[in-house]
Amino acid sequence: MGTVVETPVKEADATVTVKKPTVVFVLGKHFVLALSSVFVVILSGGPGSGKGTQCANIVEHFGYTHLSAGDLLRAEIKSGSENGTMIQNMIKEGKIVPSEVTIKLLQKAMEESGNDKFLIDGFPRNEENRAAFEAVTKIEPEFVLFFDCSEEEMERRILNRNQGREDDNVETIRKRFKVFLESSLPVVQYYEAKGKVRKIDAAKPVAEVFDAVKAVFTPKDEKAAA
Ligand code: ADP
Ligand code: C5P
Ligand code: MG
Repeated sequence: MGTVVETPVKEADATVTVKKPTVVFVLGKHFVLALSSVFVVILSGGPGSGKGTQCANIVEHFGYTHLSAGDLLRAEIKSGSENGTMIQNMIKEGKIVPSEVTIKLLQKAMEESGNDKFLIDGFPRNEENRAAFEAVTKIEPEFVLFFDCSEEEMERRILNRNQGREDDNVETIRKRFKVFLESSLPVVQYYEAKGKVRKIDAAKPVAEVFDAVKAVFTPKDEKAAA
């Protein structure tokens, strides 16, 4: 096993040090990150609040790897995996896929990325997701970006999204809103109690939302110097 090195970094105002990833040699072939030592930011918010859109901006400006749980699940369906039909049915109903499946996909993507800074978008979606992820990976997020937006605006955006998604129809959208309120918001409240939530007004235009996001990622000393 390798060692963990504490190194000063300037990624976010929430934290000034981050543990460098331990690299271990597995099966003589793959280098695998010790996931407990990576830098993770969670993006939460209702469906259509703009998480994916802002992740693209954050990746470009701050060098994170974007991991969308929904995108990983959709790719798993396309790959013809044995779980494909189950995942497809869950997504059509707006239900949350069992954590075991989603966590495996996230872990694999993290290990294959070669990066140690991640945006985890759309996960954890419920208490089971959160508890299982922490138990398996030992990862504690640095902070949680919460995209706050009205259902009316989110519905309008989703119906205009035009990505051919089977769940972007009024019937499934309503189910997803219900799941978000009942299952996902309690996870945001959990992180709120830990002082980790950074709330963003996501109803504004894309550029203005990104200004607010940037402010969260920019270290305080740089903000003062600007
Ligand atoms: P999420 O990943 O949270 O479901 P997306 O990033 O896919 O949301 O955004 C949903 C739709 O709304 C997309 O078509 C996107 O182009 C659009 N969109 C994203 N952010 C905004 C915004 N701030 N204002 C208007 N439309 C937006
Ligand atoms: O985040 P996104 O809108 O892409 O998620 C689409 C769907 O993927 C969700 O409505 C849900 O059915 C599934 N999903 C899940 N578990 C997650 C994230 C997404 O089951 N953690
Ligand atoms: Mg998305």
